[in-house]
Amino acid sequence: MAARSALYNVIERAVRKAARGLVHDFGEIENLQVSVKGPADFVSTADLQAERILKAELGKARPEFGFLMEEGGAVTGDGRHRWIVDPLDGTTNFLHGIPHFAISIAVEREGEIIAGVVYDPMRDEMFYAEKGFGAFVNDRRLRVSARQQLGDSVIGTGIPYRERGDHPEYLKLLAAVMATTAGVRRMGAASLDLAYVAAGRYDGFFEIGLSPWDIAAGMLLVREAGGYVSEIDGGRDVLKSGNVLAANDRLSAPLGKLLRNAGGKSA
Ligand code: IPD
Ligand code: CA
Repeated sequence: MAARSALYNVIERAVRKAARGLVHDFGEIENLQVSVKGPADFVSTADLQAERILKAELGKARPEFGFLMEEGGAVTGDGRHRWIVDPLDGTTNFLHGIPHFAISIAVEREGEIIAGVVYDPMRDEMFYAEKGFGAFVNDRRLRVSARQQLGDSVIGTGIPYRERGDHPEYLKLLAAVMATTAGVRRMGAASLDLAYVAAGRYDGFFEIGLSPWDIAAGMLLVREAGGYVSEIDGGRDVLKSGNVLAANDRLSAPLGKLLRNAGGKSA
């Protein structure tokens, strides 16, 4: 990227510091102390430590901003700005020693996402977008894929598990996508799934019931890379519903139609 903004520099510094801890803990995964937050929702000490670092670093640089964090919840700020933070997206991968996870940070100003970073420390890929200035990975500009046919496309998704989500509904959507596309991927970190749509690695992505910290940064990456993000039913309240459809500009409409025709509440 040619000129990096002051905001980007703040986020990058915080993210790299938090990532050093995650990488260290990932190397010692077997010794990690793991606590159980819910039946299918493990939170590692690494996760909490990363969030503490991010909160301290971001808070020091922009004390007026509020926070919405996966572990720590909401912290009120000036009422105009807030950080939306997932300190470890891909927790299940992390705890299983699968090297695919990320830190996701977005900046919301008056209800609009204006900057987003998704960092994959294992590959040292820093995905970054600022509203109106494009999307990048490290120093390379990102552009969504140019594929035009669903039959040639690779679609990312997230599969609900245990008590999470409506499994029969999800299976209808998955069946339609399986039957129509060149392949479906479930890699386990929604923020990176969206970054991969922005990078043209995936041609599209869909998932039901995500949280704002999973998607806020990634949504901006996709849009700034020339792609589209909406709810699966075509609505605009993606951050609220967490039902996400993201795709390149050519496949957004046909993929949306395919999912809506498959039926289900979210479609
Ligand atoms: C999860 C990941 C996963 C998605 C789940 C999310 P976490 O976040 O993004 O890909 O399918 O719905 O909850 O728990 O690893 O931070
Ligand atoms: Ca997450």
